[in-house]
Amino acid sequence: MPSTVRTAVLPVAGFGTRWLPITKAVPKELLPILDRPCIEYAVVEAVAAGIERIVLVTTHGKEALADYFDTNPELERHLEEQGKTDLLAMVRGITGLVDVVTVRQREARGLGLAVLSAQSAVGDEPFAVLLADDLIDSEVPAIGQLGAATPPDMAAVALMEVPIERVSQYGICSGRWTAEGHMLVDQMTEKPEPAQARSRHAIVGRYILPPDIFTILERTPRGRNDEVQLTDALAVLAGQGRVMGICFEGHRFDAGSLPGWLEANLHFARRRPELAALLAGQEDPG
Ligand code: UTP
Repeated sequence: MPSTVRTAVLPVAGFGTRWLPITKAVPKELLPILDRPCIEYAVVEAVAAGIERIVLVTTHGKEALADYFDTNPELERHLEEQGKTDLLAMVRGITGLVDVVTVRQREARGLGLAVLSAQSAVGDEPFAVLLADDLIDSEVPAIGQLGAATPPDMAAVALMEVPIERVSQYGICSGRWTAEGHMLVDQMTEKPEPAQARSRHAIVGRYILPPDIFTILERTPRGRNDEVQLTDALAVLAGQGRVMGICFEGHRFDAGSLPGWLEANLHFARRRPELAALLAGQEDPG
């Protein structure tokens, strides 16, 4: 990650309709992947890539997300009094991970507006965006892979090849391949029908963005679903030859959907000996 990218924006202001009814009361980013909320994996990834500051874009009813990364003096006092030093270290570890600030998105009208809400917190410098429900397990943090491959003054998006029948669930990029194996993107289309898709390279929720994306977002009209789409603003940068698509190394789970979330839980459970044994049927679950 270049040292100029210090801040990561994590938008968490969506409705999470695919997860209703639980998202009536619980933000989907707090749904557990084993015993950690989904968002913690993205925060840990960002920190491992050298990010110093997280901007959470929240909204009404999502206060628990900020609480998770904040101190809880009462709980800490209780654990101290009980001599539960391991648990105390664990809860303090979460607070100590990184500086977290929150901003509010006034109206849940798209990812583009969520990113725009972070403008004053980010300032005039390049920044990262991570969508927590795209959970990526990789040796080198995925956002760090993007950061390392992004030339100055350009944007980068993480790319993944998807089956043609699934292109209508993603932003799709087409362009020409560079000698380094990246795509210099010239066209981006949000959720095209398979017949209209010019490629099967889908955007996954990791971005490096230059600060002028904010000015472009301010001018971007509401598009699909009457929302301001980040992809529409990125398409402007692509028209200027300033978007690099990076096919990252790693295993991505769509934890925003029930099948993807279950798959992620099973994947990480197989790494824990006591759970792996349970899954393999070597232990009596009863
Ligand atoms: P999604 O497309 O997954 O939308 O947003 P969603 O509302 O969270 O979930 P579904 O599709 O209704 O189930 C991608 C990311 O953008 C954020 C979401 O919180 C998620 O992290 N987002 C989306 C915002 O922050 N604000 C918005 O207005 C829309």
